[in-house]
Amino acid sequence: MRTANSEWLSPWEATLPREAGRPATSYVGMIGTLRRRGRLGQTMPFALTWNGEMIGMLTVNGISWGSARWANVGYWVARSHAGRSITPTAVALVCDHLMSTAGLHRIEIAIRPENAASLRVVEKLGFTEIGLAPRFLHIAGDWRDHRVFQILAEDAPEGLVARLPPISPD
Ligand SMILES: CC(C)(COP(=O)(O)OP(=O)(O)OC[C@H]1O[C@@H](n2cnc3c(N)ncnc32)[C@H](O)[C@@H]1OP(=O)(O)O)[C@@H](O)C(=O)NCCC(=O)NCCS
Repeated sequence: MRTANSEWLSPWEATLPREAGRPATSYVGMIGTLRRRGRLGQTMPFALTWNGEMIGMLTVNGISWGSARWANVGYWVARSHAGRSITPTAVALVCDHLMSTAGLHRIEIAIRPENAASLRVVEKLGFTEIGLAPRFLHIAGDWRDHRVFQILAEDAPEGLVARLPPISPD
């Protein structure tokens, strides 16, 4: 699925800058890293499924505990399943888990200004834009500006699932 979607995903995909001094690991290697960091409580990787089939991924990264209690969220869905509000649903479910069960206070999502589809995801869920981070992340071969959005636990006492638009059953 990753290979089949490489053209769809590559404009938005994190890449390793030259300073890293090594080539990017394979997708399988990345899964190993996520499992390891997951066991340390630094990340929570989720598979997105539709009718039992994996159709995307949502990763909670950079979890800081203690007085910070924040994390950032990244996501992608297969082109075949785009446009069904699957990602907003996944983001809402995971944010509610993070801010209730896990006890995080702040969730951040950073998005390239050109990524209209992803900007719709945070718009649908009522995230607050807090600024522009210049050359924030190495994406598709260069440092790219990102618009930064956040939700605080006190912004959504009713949870984010309550804000979801209805999903079409087909
Ligand atoms: C961004 C992304 C995760 C959105 O996921 P999604 O589950 O399709 O989200 P939604 O269904 O809410 O659609 C969001 C917007 O995408 C656009 N969209 C809808 N169908 C689409 C399609 N088939 N192809 C492209 N864009 C589409 C629409 O503008 C939609 O907004 P709308 O619901 O107001 O019409 C998905 O487009 C994706 O995986 N893109 C490539 C990877 C990526 O950009 N990741 C995020 C990096 S910050």
